[in-house]
Amino acid sequence: MERTNLQKLPAPLLAWYDEHRRVLPWREQVSPYRTWVSEIMLQQTRVQAVLPYFRRFMEAAPDVQALAALPEEQLMRLWQGLGYYSRARNLKKAAQTVVEDFGGVFPDSYDGLRRLAGIGDYTAGAILSIAFGQPVPAVDGNVLRVAARLTGDSRNVLEPKVRADFRCAMAETMPHDRPGDFNQALMDLGAAVCLPGGKPLCEQCPAAPFCAARQQGTQALLPVREKKKEKREIPLTVFAMVREDGAAALRQRPKNGLLAGLWGLPHVEGTLDEAAAARQLAAWGVTVLRWERTLHAKHEFTHLRWQMTGYLLTVAGEGQPDWLWADASQRRQRAIPSAFRVFTAALEDAAAGEKSDKGD
Ligand code: ADE
Repeated sequence: MERTNLQKLPAPLLAWYDEHRRVLPWREQVSPYRTWVSEIMLQQTRVQAVLPYFRRFMEAAPDVQALAALPEEQLMRLWQGLGYYSRARNLKKAAQTVVEDFGGVFPDSYDGLRRLAGIGDYTAGAILSIAFGQPVPAVDGNVLRVAARLTGDSRNVLEPKVRADFRCAMAETMPHDRPGDFNQALMDLGAAVCLPGGKPLCEQCPAAPFCAARQQGTQALLPVREKKKEKREIPLTVFAMVREDGAAALRQRPKNGLLAGLWGLPHVEGTLDEAAAARQLAAWGVTVLRWERTLHAKHEFTHLRWQMTGYLLTVAGEGQPDWLWADASQRRQRAIPSAFRVFTAALEDAAAGEKSDKGD
């Protein structure tokens, strides 16, 4: 990440904020309680929609004690129309925690705040910076957009470690004399200027002279938000075959592709029932002496998932020319991928059984 661009941000951003800041009730009169309620309301809802709700809420429940004692029905009436009602229920629950566990005093530490219902990383940062003046970042989607563009960072902001990296960079950048203003300035910039998609108003932006996305013309491409692709599911039937001498059939995987060149158990694509599996074994030239067990397992690769049905069998015959009938020590010498672990473990048990049966 190009952190030097972020380091240039505080002075021009705060100057811009001093001129353009939105006048909002939770900014004009600041307290931990008011900051908290406003941040919860603003989580899923636009500022304009929140304004009348915030005013009514503060009249009905002007402090944390009043909220803790607010009847459920009145709380729901106050919230009606804002949506996501679990936010309201969490507010009251958290208010009761503040009254009962914190002596009615709002906690002023990250850990204390995180113990309250409904307060996550972002909201804790917002309350600490705005209400307590602590230099803690509050990184939401708007702030990520500003930061990704400013630094020209094309990593996926839906990945937790990328978000953590941005939080860390923001923490280093924040001015310690005005952390709350800095965070709110970022929020305002994201909401009013650094707009999503191809619509940012760069000519109004105080960071335009040193914005990497603007220099590269990549505003519309940033931030990158890539949802994880659903993995392709591949059903497999695996054959864990042991002969009466304790040797088991292994097959080397192709030189290219998944688990290239490693040794595995013979398998075919698709889920074969016992009748189909018996036909497959006959086609391979294997005689089944005993069907021992049917096993199921799955294994996750980066882009796909094997959904495996496995048959543990005692067999006779040579099978296919590219199979190796490996005894226990030959099996140990080969790295058999963990994808087959459930079947190789069963196979080792069975092979040990075959040997000791014969020794009896
Ligand atoms: N969105 C979330 N928090 C905000 C705040 N404190 N001011 C303006 N918009 C916000």
